[in-house]
Amino acid sequence: MNHRKSPPTVNLNLNVRGLSKSATLEINEKSNALIREGREVFKLGLGQSPFPVPESVVAELKANAHQKAYLPVMGLPALCNAVADFHRRMEGIDFTGDDVLIGPGSKELMFILQLVYYGDLLIPSPSWVSYAPQAQIVGRHIRWLQTTWENDLALFPEELDRHCRKDPDRPRLMILNYPNNPSGNSFISGKLKALADVARKYRIILLSDEIYGELNHRGQHVSIARYYPEGTIISSGLSKWCGAGGWRLGTFAFPKSLGWLKEAMGVVASETFTSTSAPIQYAAVRAFQGGLDIEKYLYYSRRILRSLGQYFYQRLRKAGAILPEPRGGFYLFVNFEPFREKLREKGVHNSTDFCNLLLDETGVAILPGVVFGRPAEELSARLAYVDFDGARALVGAAQVPNGKSLDSDFLNLYFPKMIKACDQLCQWLEVC
Ligand SMILES: Cc1ncc(COP(=O)(O)O)c(C=O)c1O
Repeated sequence: MNHRKSPPTVNLNLNVRGLSKSATLEINEKSNALIREGREVFKLGLGQSPFPVPESVVAELKANAHQKAYLPVMGLPALCNAVADFHRRMEGIDFTGDDVLIGPGSKELMFILQLVYYGDLLIPSPSWVSYAPQAQIVGRHIRWLQTTWENDLALFPEELDRHCRKDPDRPRLMILNYPNNPSGNSFISGKLKALADVARKYRIILLSDEIYGELNHRGQHVSIARYYPEGTIISSGLSKWCGAGGWRLGTFAFPKSLGWLKEAMGVVASETFTSTSAPIQYAAVRAFQGGLDIEKYLYYSRRILRSLGQYFYQRLRKAGAILPEPRGGFYLFVNFEPFREKLREKGVHNSTDFCNLLLDETGVAILPGVVFGRPAEELSARLAYVDFDGARALVGAAQVPNGKSLDSDFLNLYFPKMIKACDQLCQWLEVC
């Protein structure tokens, strides 16, 4: 008799705790299918940096291709020191290399943090797509904090206080991300200080996701860790400001008081990813050390993003949409509610219908607001203004005298596809 059992069957719909494939990947696949059909598609869905990795950082990666040994689980000491120096330089906060944890992307570190810390997850609506699913996977409670369009979707200290006051001693982890994905908004110092005061009052552990910090359009990023150093972990990495998303390197910097969390994360890291890719870590030392070439790279990246962001912002507003003014990164979060009546006639009732119809009728791919935690029926969506040749644009921007803005001739020359996407979207809104 054959006692061999067949392996357990797998649900081909592959889902984990009710989660299925991310909407970001789904819209990308749909866009690719349209491209295969010969359609012109404007990929404003996926939030990938359009800029190349700075040459000096690439050179360092080449020079270290031979590095083959496993590195310490917490990270290459030279890199941990460079990251600590980076935050000290930028924020004036006294980190040392021992306070830093390096991982294969900050997303992985966030997941491990949620795994080891038992508190509720607090996130503002809207928030980046992965915070909530990660909490769901590890079985944490998710508490959405409300924001309003009138206040440009920024979290207000009063809202945080209103939430925490009900159960002041409850352990909580809050993720604050700015410049923000998806809203493009950021915080000024006064607002950060007020939020920090509430976080301290309720002893919230604050994960400050500053992965777009260097892409503040005016180079004026300030970390909330300045105002709540004892409770804030700063998250950063190479993916956005250094254009190296595919290299997979993220960093967490911990205050000494949260060293126990860093150690707990180290235990999970040692049993999961072991250590981050060695050549990438060696190259990242160069990126975090900075220098004139990186300063210039960032200066021109910001200049380009500021001009494009403003261009889209002004045109969408003129077309009748509602949206916060972009202050950093490369996203806009747009409220299309003023078009609800017209869209209803076309069968659009929620943000997913909206994005599907827009993609079908114009080739413009953007992501529905629902995946960022907005109410499903709200007609909102995120647009990433990154579908252009970043290497060419950096060369062009360096030729425009400092202090002069990148005018419409420049935009037409370097971002024709983005301008066309904006035309398509605005015209569609007019006639839809
Ligand atoms: C707000 C935000 N945080 C974190 C990440 C994760 O970045 P990485 O895992 O590449 O470091 C992203 C990537 O899109 C992001 O937009």
